[in-house]
Amino acid sequence: MKKISILIAGFLLAFAPVKADEGMWLPMFVKRLNYVDMQKQGLQLTPEEIYSVNNSSLKDAIVRLGRGFCTGEIISDQGLMLTNHHCGFGVIQENSTEEHNYLDDGFWAMKKEDELPAGFSVSFLVRMEDVSKSVNALLDEDMSLEDRAKAIKQISDSLEAAAVGESDYTANVKSFYNGNEFYLFVYETFQDVRLVGAPPSSVGKYGGDTDNWMWPRHTGDFTMFRVYADKDNKPAEYSKDNKPYTPKHSLPISLKGVEPGDFSMIFGYPGSTDRYLTSEGINYELEVRQPASVKLRRQVLDAYQEGMDMSEKTRIQYASKFAGVANYWKYFIGQQAGLKRLKVYDKKKGQEDALVAWIEKDEDRKRLYAGVIDGFKTGYDNMKEANRVRVYLNEAIFRTEAIAYSFQFSGLKSSYDALDEKPAKDDERTKEQMAEETEKTAEQIEKTITRLKGGIDGHFKDYDMAIDRDVFAAMMKDYSNDIPKENQPESFKKMIGKFKGDFNKMASSMYAKSIFGSKAKVEAFLEKPSAKVLAKDPIYMVQSSIIGHFRSDILPIIRKENEGLQRSERLFVKGLREMNSDKVYAPDANSTMRFTYGQVGGYEPKDGATYSHITTAQGILEKEDPTNPEFVVPAKLKKLIQNKDYGQYADKSGELVINFIANNDITGGNSGSPMINGNGELIGTAFDGNWEAMSGDIAFETEFQRTIGVDIRYTLFIIDKYAGAGHLIDEMKLVK
Ligand code: ARG
Repeated sequence: MKKISILIAGFLLAFAPVKADEGMWLPMFVKRLNYVDMQKQGLQLTPEEIYSVNNSSLKDAIVRLGRGFCTGEIISDQGLMLTNHHCGFGVIQENSTEEHNYLDDGFWAMKKEDELPAGFSVSFLVRMEDVSKSVNALLDEDMSLEDRAKAIKQISDSLEAAAVGESDYTANVKSFYNGNEFYLFVYETFQDVRLVGAPPSSVGKYGGDTDNWMWPRHTGDFTMFRVYADKDNKPAEYSKDNKPYTPKHSLPISLKGVEPGDFSMIFGYPGSTDRYLTSEGINYELEVRQPASVKLRRQVLDAYQEGMDMSEKTRIQYASKFAGVANYWKYFIGQQAGLKRLKVYDKKKGQEDALVAWIEKDEDRKRLYAGVIDGFKTGYDNMKEANRVRVYLNEAIFRTEAIAYSFQFSGLKSSYDALDEKPAKDDERTKEQMAEETEKTAEQIEKTITRLKGGIDGHFKDYDMAIDRDVFAAMMKDYSNDIPKENQPESFKKMIGKFKGDFNKMASSMYAKSIFGSKAKVEAFLEKPSAKVLAKDPIYMVQSSIIGHFRSDILPIIRKENEGLQRSERLFVKGLREMNSDKVYAPDANSTMRFTYGQVGGYEPKDGATYSHITTAQGILEKEDPTNPEFVVPAKLKKLIQNKDYGQYADKSGELVINFIANNDITGGNSGSPMINGNGELIGTAFDGNWEAMSGDIAFETEFQRTIGVDIRYTLFIIDKYAGAGHLIDEMKLVK
C-alpha cells in the first residue's frame, strides 16, 4: 500500500516538479506536494509526524509570537520556548533600567519564580482547512471590489464562528494567491508567557547593524521564554498560580551538528512576501517606496543616535526603537541593490510577456484576462503620488511619537464634536432619541478617558521629548519638501508658512505649546479634558490636518485605483498558474504557518569568493573591537573561547560552531523559527537572511539565498557554560 502510493506520488512528481529551496509551503499539503521530494533529500519523518490534526506532530511545537512578529519553538515538556534575541529585545529592553541593565548584562531566571511576564501571547495552530470552494462560490468576475470584500467577510465570519464553536479557540480565514484561494486557520492562544533567559547584547546582537543581514555571522541571536497555563493546562491570563504548559510536542535537540548537504527544514510564521509583484511594481518600489523609506529612516536613526549618546537612560529607552527602524533601513538598501543587480525587473517583464502571449492564443482567455497586464501600469501610474503620501504617512508622520500619540486622542475629539453639534432643522430624531444618543456619547467619552489615562505610563516610560522633537523637525521638513504642494493640506502649508521654513523653530515652538510631549501636561489635560484644548494644540493640529487630508483627498484615489489593480493582481496569479499548470507555485507568505526545506551549504557571493556553511568561535575573536560597542566580546566568553572550553558543545574537531546557513526560504516573521534535521531534531534557530539575496522577498534567488541560523550548540553553550543556567539544559531532550 505504502509502496504504491509512493509510486503514484513519484509519478505525479515527475509532472509537478517542486523546487526544493524556494517555497513557503503549507503543512496541511505536505503529503500531496512535498513529501516525496523531502524524503529524497533526507527526511525520515512520516507526513503525519509533521502535520496531524488528531495526533501530536511537529506543528504542535511551533508557536506564533503575538500576531506573528516572530516564531518560537517548544523545547521542553515544561513549556520552555526558544526564539531570537531580537524577538525578545523589546521585552528585555522594557525590563531594563540603569540598575538592572538586561540589555547589556543579559537576564537569567535561576528559578521559575524569577521569570518575568513577557507581555505578549503565543498561539499554537490547532488545524487548517481549505475553504476556497465555500468562499469562491459566492464570488464572480463582475463584482466590485467592495462587494467582493463584503462577501468574503461575511462567509469568513460564519466559517470562523463555526470552527470556534463552544471552544476558546480563535479562527481566521486568509486569502492566498492574491485572492484566488482561501484557507481557514484555528488557533489556541496562551497569554501567560514569561522571559526565562537572554544573553547580553554583546552575544545576542554581536556584530550589531554592521553585520545585520550579512554572512559570515557570529551572533548568539537567541532568547528563551516559558509558556504558562492554568491547572487544566488551558490558556489563562497571567497568574501566580499558573503552571508551566505541558505541550503536545517538544523538539528534541541534536548535538551532532551539520555538514554541507544535510537536510534542513524550517517551520514558522513568515509575515509577507511579494513573489508575484510585477515589473510595474518593481518600478514603484525602486522609484518611490524604498528610497523614501531609506531616507526617512536614516534621519530618524540620526536623531535617535544623537539622543542615545546623551545618557545611559535614553540609550536604554530607545534601544528597541532604534533596532526596529535600523533593521528595515538596511533591508531596503540591500533590497534596492539586489533588485538592480539581479535584474529582477527584466525577469518579471519576461514572465509578463509570456503570459500576454499565452492569453492572446485563446478567445476565452482574451475575455477573462482582458486588461490584466495593462491594469498594472494604469494602477501604479495613477496611484504613484497618492502612494508617496501614504509612505510618508507611515514612515514620517507616524514615526513622530507625539503625532502618533495625539492620534489616539482623535476619538475623544470627535465624541466632543458630536456632543456640540446642533441638530439640523430636518433632523427626524425624537427628543428621547437625541437624549439617548447624547448619553451614549458621554459614556463613550468616559471610557476613552479611562483608556487614555491607563496608557500614559506606558507611552512616556520610553519617551524622550528632545529626541522626538528632532524627529519631528526632520520629518516635517521632508514631508514639506518631498510631497508635491498640491498633495499637502492647505492648513498644514499655512502652519509651515508661519515658521518660514525653519523646521527647528517650528518644532521648538510646537513642542513647547503642545500637551503631547509632556507626561504632566497630558495628565492634567485628562483631568480636565476639552475639545478646545485639542483643537488648539499645535501637534494635534498637524496630525489632524495631515490625516484628515489623507482620508478626504488621498484615500479615495487609492481606493479607486485598487479596484483595477487588485483585479489585475488576482488574475495575474491565476493566469500564471494556469499557463504553467505543471509547476507547483507556493503562495506568498501571509503570517500563516509554513515550512521550507532544503540543505545546509555555503555559496559564492561573487566571482572569486566562496563562503563556508559555518562560522566558528575563532571568528568572534577575529571581529573583536573593544572600541566599537557592536564588537565588544564579554571577558568571560573570550576566556572560554581562548581555552576552547566548549564541553559537549564542541564539534568533532574541538571547535565551537556559532552560526550556519542553509538554502531555506524564510522572511520576516520567521525569526526564531526552528531549523530541524531529517529526524525532526532541532539543529538551530533561524534569525536572518543574507546580503546577496536581499531582493528575495520579491524574487527568490536559488544561487544566493540563504537562511542564517544560530547553531543550537552555541545556544546551549551560552546557557550552560557562559550563564551557568545548566538547569535549563536538564529540561531538554538532547540527542548525542
Ligand atoms: N535582520 C534580522 C531580521 O529581520 C534582524 C536582526 C537583528 N539584529 C540586528 N543587528 N539588528 O530578522
